Amino acid sequence: MNSQRPGRLSVGIVGAGRVGAVLGSALRQVGHEVVGASGGSPDSLDRIDTLLTGVPVLDMVDVARASDLVLLTVPDDAITSVAAWIAAQGGFRPGQIVLHTSGRHGVEVLRPALEAGAIPLAVHPAMTFTGTSLDLSRLEGAPFAVTAPAPVQPIGQALVVEIGGEPVLLADAARGAYHAALSHASNHLVTLLVQARRVLEEAGVDDGARLLGPLTRAALEGALTAGEQALTGPVSRGDVGTVSGHLDALAGTDDALATGAAYRALARSTALLAREAGRISDDRAAELERLLREHPGPALPAAVATAAGTAVVRTRADLRAARARLGGRVAVVMTMGALHEGHLGLVRAARTAADHVIVTIFVNPTQFGDPRDLEAYPRTLEGDLAALGSLGPDAPDLVFAPGVAEMYPDGVGERAAGVVAGPVARRYEGASRPGHFDGVLTVVAKLLHLTQPDVAVFGEKDAQQLAVVRGMVAELAMPLWVLAAPVAREADGLAMSSRNARLTPSGREQALALSRSVVAARRIAGAGGDVTAVLRAARAEVTGVDGVALDYADLVTPTTFLPAGPDEAGELTYVVAAVVDGVRLIDTTPLVVGGAVGRDDAGEPDVAPR
Ligand code: PAF
Repeated sequence: MNSQRPGRLSVGIVGAGRVGAVLGSALRQVGHEVVGASGGSPDSLDRIDTLLTGVPVLDMVDVARASDLVLLTVPDDAITSVAAWIAAQGGFRPGQIVLHTSGRHGVEVLRPALEAGAIPLAVHPAMTFTGTSLDLSRLEGAPFAVTAPAPVQPIGQALVVEIGGEPVLLADAARGAYHAALSHASNHLVTLLVQARRVLEEAGVDDGARLLGPLTRAALEGALTAGEQALTGPVSRGDVGTVSGHLDALAGTDDALATGAAYRALARSTALLAREAGRISDDRAAELERLLREHPGPALPAAVATAAGTAVVRTRADLRAARARLGGRVAVVMTMGALHEGHLGLVRAARTAADHVIVTIFVNPTQFGDPRDLEAYPRTLEGDLAALGSLGPDAPDLVFAPGVAEMYPDGVGERAAGVVAGPVARRYEGASRPGHFDGVLTVVAKLLHLTQPDVAVFGEKDAQQLAVVRGMVAELAMPLWVLAAPVAREADGLAMSSRNARLTPSGREQALALSRSVVAARRIAGAGGDVTAVLRAARAEVTGVDGVALDYADLVTPTTFLPAGPDEAGELTYVVAAVVDGVRLIDTTPLVVGGAVGRDDAGEPDVAPR
């Protein structure tokens, strides 16, 4: 490797943040010359002053021009645009080394530098930085993940060795997982300890850090050397009673929502590990899983309930009492949480239709076919309440957020009865998710009985769910008006969904094929096209698109969800579903086929066709 030693280099730092300034200082200490640094904030200027004393502050392009080695130590999301800007100004040259320190990215983000002939390196120190000289000693022996094209990997390794680090070669494709693992271990450890200290302080232990120190250091050491064999404690012993006691105790603490959620999530993962390691039986693991899923959790803190004048209740009894206090017309909006702007639109629509609004938040297990999907569904009650609070005068009067045991007291599998949906539920979404609509109708019926509304608001986005619910309300003569609210969309047209958060940036791009197909359907219907013409244009946008596994794209009758025949005319619904990035997405629009112009809906996508 020594033959690859880069020799004395002129080093430029684009972005003198904590990492840039410290690495620049370390490179200077081993004989390289730092010729310039950019960074306009007072903190950056301070760091240049103290860690890079005497180094001129230059414009980023001038920094790059003056350097053999350019450290692009800017925020992760800015790397490509900064590199593109410098490249466009002629700041890069062949043979120059351009290095970024993002953990998440490989060298692809340095493409503009690579295209200018520079050598791209991704070198991430697996270490936290304070941005002071203290960090210099932390570099000694610190691992650095080095990603680079094979011929130039030794250059990255040599630079790391020079400043005292330990290079670890990492494939480009592994960077995302690598960085997630580091964050999970180091950042979440801090969260965990802060939560534990707060619980101890509330219990009257003044110096929580002192009490936790020896135990957590021993656990850390154990985990690093023996992995899951180092597990101790009630979960790894299968002690369900003690875990249940912990959940009760945490439910009474100030930070009950956040700490309780973290405790449950980690206890469930711990139970899985303990079972894998043969420490507890399958039955005991299942018992723990049930407890952790179904424990009712905390009564919500009064502060949350009163922030926007919204009362938050978790039990049927409290709901009954709170509902009795609401006079006039009442509207309900049913959700599974993970609220986004689309849900808030439903609440606003409910406000226009009634004197009082109830929002229910319940991740309903009976409508999930795949237990992994249920497991992965986000549960974000605290954030949901904050989002509802942000509606100010439109915030709901009441939120009902029951636990599973409150909704299914006999157990999900042991429930005495349920609603069975009609044939409309066996097509399209129903065909891909057998039993899904039975689960939806069962919980919707229960929530309607519990909340006793005059109006129930559902989103048009779930067009088939809307049809199935309307069918049930009519069939069972429920005294209720079902109000449909239009599809809410992101600025680029993508239909809003809690699932969008699971898309990668490239999947997010690919997902736009669905809204483009909606635009195409509306365009052709608006121009008087018949069923065949509408479908041809709409399907062309979602067929054979990279990364988009189309399930269906069809025109259906809104009430029956039977496919429209080629000569059918009048009000129809265009529905499309596809899996993108492993995430199932749907989109829809109502339209009029056969000459009339389609409804001009505020919720329809406003994006140019491709
Ligand atoms: O649309 C949803 O979020 C759910 O299907 C509903 C209606 C809340 C029932 O769980």
